[in-house]
Amino acid sequence: MTGMHGFALRLPVICAPMFRLSGPEMVMAACKAGIGGAFPCTNARTLDELDQWMASITDTLSPVDGPWIANLITHSTHARLADELRLVAQYKPPIVITALGSPKPVMETVKSYGGLVFADVVNMRLAKKAADAEVDGMACISAGAGGHTGNLSPFAFISAVREIFKGVIVVGGGIADGAGVAGAVAAGADCVYMGTRFIATEESRADPRYKSMVIDAQTDDLVVSSAITGTPASWLKASTEEAGLSDEDLAGTVPRDYSSGDVKKWRDIWAAGQGVGQTSEIESVAKVVDGLHREYLSALARLGALSFK
Ligand SMILES: Cc1cc2nc3c(=O)[nH]c(=O)nc-3n(C[C@H](O)[C@H](O)[C@H](O)COP(=O)(O)O)c2cc1C
Repeated sequence: MTGMHGFALRLPVICAPMFRLSGPEMVMAACKAGIGGAFPCTNARTLDELDQWMASITDTLSPVDGPWIANLITHSTHARLADELRLVAQYKPPIVITALGSPKPVMETVKSYGGLVFADVVNMRLAKKAADAEVDGMACISAGAGGHTGNLSPFAFISAVREIFKGVIVVGGGIADGAGVAGAVAAGADCVYMGTRFIATEESRADPRYKSMVIDAQTDDLVVSSAITGTPASWLKASTEEAGLSDEDLAGTVPRDYSSGDVKKWRDIWAAGQGVGQTSEIESVAKVVDGLHREYLSALARLGALSFK
């Protein structure tokens, strides 16, 4: 199947970048399974490590695999951006997805080698800015997403973005099975951005207790709070309880200082989205993609068999 700007994909899905959890193992497994594989460059602690990750990804993948994707923080406070961009220019990820800032700082570098720039957006204000910056695609983060989340319905968001933008629409937020992928495509998206479904995979770097918590959790077992990072994000309630955070702690909008002390955000407070109930065991990324593919085909068959006057 060819989709999303001509990439050979088995399924229109990107294994979304996840802080601390996505490393080269997950990216390569996703691409080998025929979907896109993304990682945040900040997951590599040093630039040398990032260099090694990019070298092993480019050595391992071939043109028949899905595209690998570097996720870059473009906020002005991110001191490493220029160095990360130097490595991007060297290793040429087919797609770069920007987060927490304007896509503008990466445009020239990525376009110069023929790569695509997608911007991560959570509302129409950011989507309009990204369209003005002439990005090739947008990752539209909708309600239900794990980690930093949006609050728009994916259906409303896709339609509104399609009105102003001709490029690739990737949509994320609570989509964790193949039926959801088919639904997103039917609604006008080109591809799905899926994070939570990959937390409890063999290739994920999540703590084993985090993976178990994801397996045990259902859709209701989440709390959206701005008090951890300063931005609304979706967390596993069991992890906020284990960390000793009260409802009052979670109700605020000003982040507490989690940089020191026993409890560290992301390390001890664990993010997940509304698709969390779809995970019942730890599997390889390849097996998860096999399952998604089966579900996707049966959803397409169900849609194809429907007939109305
Ligand atoms: C544990 C976790 C960590 C995440 N870390 C990042 C990150 O570092 N950068 C980023 O752009 N998005 C991050 N996200 C968001 C995902 O890239 C993606 O938008 C989201 O997972 C999609 O929704 P879903 O989790 O419902 O599939 C994270 C999500 C999760 C669950």
